[in-house]
Amino acid sequence: MNLEEVKAKWTALIEQQLARVEEMKAQGDFVDYSNKEHIVIGVCGGDGIGPAITAQAERILRYLLAADIESGRVEIRTIDGLTIERRAAEMAAIPPAVLEELKQCDVILKGPTTTPRKGDQWPNVESANVAMRKALDLFANVRPVRIPELGIDWMFYRENTEGGYAAGKEGINITEDLGIDFTIATTQGCERIIRAAFENARQNGRTRVTAVTKANIIKTTDGKFLDVFYKIAEEYPEITADDWYIDIMTAKLLDEQRRRDFQVVVLPNLYGDIITDEAAEIQDGVGTAGSANIGKRYAMFEAVHGSAPRMVQEGREIYADPSSIIKAAAMLLSHIGYRKESEKLEEALYICSSAEKKVVLTGRSNGATSEEYADYIMETLARL
Ligand code: IPM
Ligand code: MG
Repeated sequence: MNLEEVKAKWTALIEQQLARVEEMKAQGDFVDYSNKEHIVIGVCGGDGIGPAITAQAERILRYLLAADIESGRVEIRTIDGLTIERRAAEMAAIPPAVLEELKQCDVILKGPTTTPRKGDQWPNVESANVAMRKALDLFANVRPVRIPELGIDWMFYRENTEGGYAAGKEGINITEDLGIDFTIATTQGCERIIRAAFENARQNGRTRVTAVTKANIIKTTDGKFLDVFYKIAEEYPEITADDWYIDIMTAKLLDEQRRRDFQVVVLPNLYGDIITDEAAEIQDGVGTAGSANIGKRYAMFEAVHGSAPRMVQEGREIYADPSSIIKAAAMLLSHIGYRKESEKLEEALYICSSAEKKVVLTGRSNGATSEEYADYIMETLARL
């Protein structure tokens, strides 16, 4: 690239981000589902083991929402086509027709989707998760991690549309030897995620919100995140606000004494990506976490793990663990106002996976199928 081309690309990127700022300024408040007469839940299986595990989560949703599905208040709509084959064929992170269908829904339950990487058989299409988060402006990635027996109850608020992800594929190879990527923070983008974290703390009686950055080094964008954090903290005098750098925070999550003190944690995109995997691993593996992607208009709930293509190649997808997508379904229920059903489902999940363990998944034929596991969860729900 010659310098003029680099400058043109750089200018286009800046203009795009300035336009985003204007869009964010014009944004209203969150949708209030309690007043909605009709709620559409889109169910999108994704790839690999996705369709198999998502089908089980859908059965549980249908079971818990039976009356309101019957009355027509809630509609569950299947959305096909978010598969790596179709995305590759159309060379689109989300095929445009699929995106249109998604936009007709209020909330989406999404199975894992394959993210191509260098050297595999797929062309370089952008990650479907990342594209969906951007296309539907799902700026808050909410990931709870709870281990009651260790006194751990963490709520991560990961910024989901900015940081290193906003222009992750817009980096420039200026010469053969020089590559530059961009990381982006806007005041509006920081404000909305940080406010969401403090609101969560206030509404749930949590007394501490912690920001995590590397503002000592990444001075401009992480610096902005931190400045906005302490400014917003002033509006929540009942809540203790503090901040840590990502490196020591990563270590502190392994410190059995100190880690219990963390409550709500708010972080820029990439740090949130990394630390929520660490936290989920402490809980019981990344497959056990749930993940909500929340915006003002739409919300999407997903399994945290990948699509496990090898399990499908070996014919083992019927033995895949559906816990993560079922946890996502529980978060979905709570988000659209079915809090009681959501709590029941969380409790049933806890009973089935930790307290009772009458049906055990191993990922292989010596364990239960995901269908048997979902049956077990529904039987447990019926007892609650
Ligand atoms: C996650 C995942 C995604 C991310 C990948 C699949 C693009 O790791 O949801 O945490 O990096 O956000
Ligand atoms: Mg991740």
